Amino acid sequence: MRNKLVAGNWKMHGSLVANLALLTRIKEAATGFKSACAVCVPFPYLAQAQAALAGSKVAWGAQNVSEHAQGAYTGEVSAVMLAEFACRYVLVGHSERRALYGESDTVVAAKFAAALQAGLTPILCVGETVAEREAGITGAVVARQLDAVVVNSGVAALKHAVLAYEPVWAIGTGKTATAQQAQDVHALLRGRVAGGDARVAQALQILYGGSVKPGNAQELFAMPDIDGGLIGGAALVAEDFLAICHAA
Ligand code: 13P
Repeated sequence: MRNKLVAGNWKMHGSLVANLALLTRIKEAATGFKSACAVCVPFPYLAQAQAALAGSKVAWGAQNVSEHAQGAYTGEVSAVMLAEFACRYVLVGHSERRALYGESDTVVAAKFAAALQAGLTPILCVGETVAEREAGITGAVVARQLDAVVVNSGVAALKHAVLAYEPVWAIGTGKTATAQQAQDVHALLRGRVAGGDARVAQALQILYGGSVKPGNAQELFAMPDIDGGLIGGAALVAEDFLAICHAA
């Protein structure tokens, strides 16, 4: 039986004052959570998240990481730096990184490896665009995104990672995949991992992301291959995020 995980992705939102209120609320409520919970915050707020959440049941992490260990890469942040702030998680390959910052499957695979190397747990995001879904190539797209990482790091690396299925058309649109649509892709992803190592596949947490709200979380999380959620907009509203955590 896999534990559930609900991870908030704050994206480029927050302020020191607003964060403190949100983090404090989450930390207090987390004592009653059955599932694991995490927040992925903008880089400048990692120290604040660490200070607010240390010793609690809530983990924290970042939303991006450099594929390089160190060097002349102005503006980049290495995995070792994230580890210094006791991050447990880091998102890699979020669709906004892929679409807006040109991150290829190869770059995402290198970032995944860099995160593992520093002892972080990468949350690998995969997902198709609306055009890809309509063209009937959802399975091929997410398989390609997953395979790039497996080829580079090996299937056993997924023991130390989390996978997130985030259909691009469902992100921030209010259009959620139906529980069955999400389950179908999750099962496909798990099956693909099982082709390499059945035990790794069985233990792998696969989160769903894309307009998860208090009103649809329970139905999504009830599906056999959906092991929690990656939450954007609703992660910025304490009551919504906590309700989603309780649903898990
Ligand atoms: P929304 O929950 O706002 O749709 O965002 C999902 C997401 O991108 C989480 O990483």
